[in-house]
Amino acid sequence: MLRRLHPEQPDTFAFTAANQAWAEGQISKYPEGRQASAIIPLLWRAQEQEGWLTRPAIEHVATMLGLSYIRALEVATFYFMFQLQPVGSVAHIQVCGTTSCMICGAEDLVQVCKEMIAAKPHQLSEDGKFSWEEVECLGSCSNAPMAQIGKDYYEDLTADKMRALITDLSKGGVPLPGPQNGRYGAEPLGGVTSLKDHEAGKPPHNASVALAVEIGDTVKRIDGTEVPLLTPWRGKSGAAAKTSPKAKPAAARSAAAPKKPRSLKAPRKAGADDLTALKGVGPKLAEVLNSLGFYHYDQIAKWSDAEIAWVDENLEGFKGRASRDGWVLQAADLAQKA
Ligand code: FES
Repeated sequence: MLRRLHPEQPDTFAFTAANQAWAEGQISKYPEGRQASAIIPLLWRAQEQEGWLTRPAIEHVATMLGLSYIRALEVATFYFMFQLQPVGSVAHIQVCGTTSCMICGAEDLVQVCKEMIAAKPHQLSEDGKFSWEEVECLGSCSNAPMAQIGKDYYEDLTADKMRALITDLSKGGVPLPGPQNGRYGAEPLGGVTSLKDHEAGKPPHNASVALAVEIGDTVKRIDGTEVPLLTPWRGKSGAAAKTSPKAKPAAARSAAAPKKPRSLKAPRKAGADDLTALKGVGPKLAEVLNSLGFYHYDQIAKWSDAEIAWVDENLEGFKGRASRDGWVLQAADLAQKA
């Protein structure tokens, strides 16, 4: 497959403040003169943040590492894990097409993706919410066929179950990952035949699913807010901030106390704005916003950094979306057009 940069590129790229601090922590792992070794984690984090790897992102990472652009471009175009074209705003679905999955029905799953998303891999669905591709073995062969969506595995799939997953995600749902046929993990289909003592009192989900449930949003992009920015070799992220002028604003911003924005009890007389016009907002998330007292573009357009932080924290099931998807700028634009 020819791997080229997408013809349409954004003008700029910047890590979120938290991701910038994280990236600087990663660079500090390597001895002087070997900073280029941090290229894969940094490119990966840029992709996690934006969904795909843009040219400005590749160049930004190259600059951070003191590399010529072409060196970073070589890495980005070599590894298939880097998406060089826009992916669905809600999810990019990676269907395993290798032997076990193929024998167990991967072609049916691909067919569903073709019908519900786009005829070809790496094409966006009409509403821009989804994209898909076929990938090589993801190491979950005993639960074939399977697909990776966001950061989680959805296993023991059928065409109908894949359809239901895409439908649920398109409505803003957060489906439960893991085996989709009632299996706990990778035990035999007929139930466990050994280690039966461990059956009693086991937690409701296997460890991977339990972690996904705890995070609450399998398709959320990583913006640096979801994990403590620990760099054990330097202390907490604040330590990195002290030694790096670039990281100071990050630390300062992350320290700002979240503040609840002004809300309304009900929409104004003219009716609520269509919040699903904001990137990544489906009907379910629009309901959550309404329940918090936000109905209009001009309300959202006025949120400060501290208010965005409050909203990010209070979007039950969708934490971090306000900053991840840049709602404030979009809302300002929409308010102007309204
Ligand atoms: S063959 Fe699909 S996960 Fe291994």
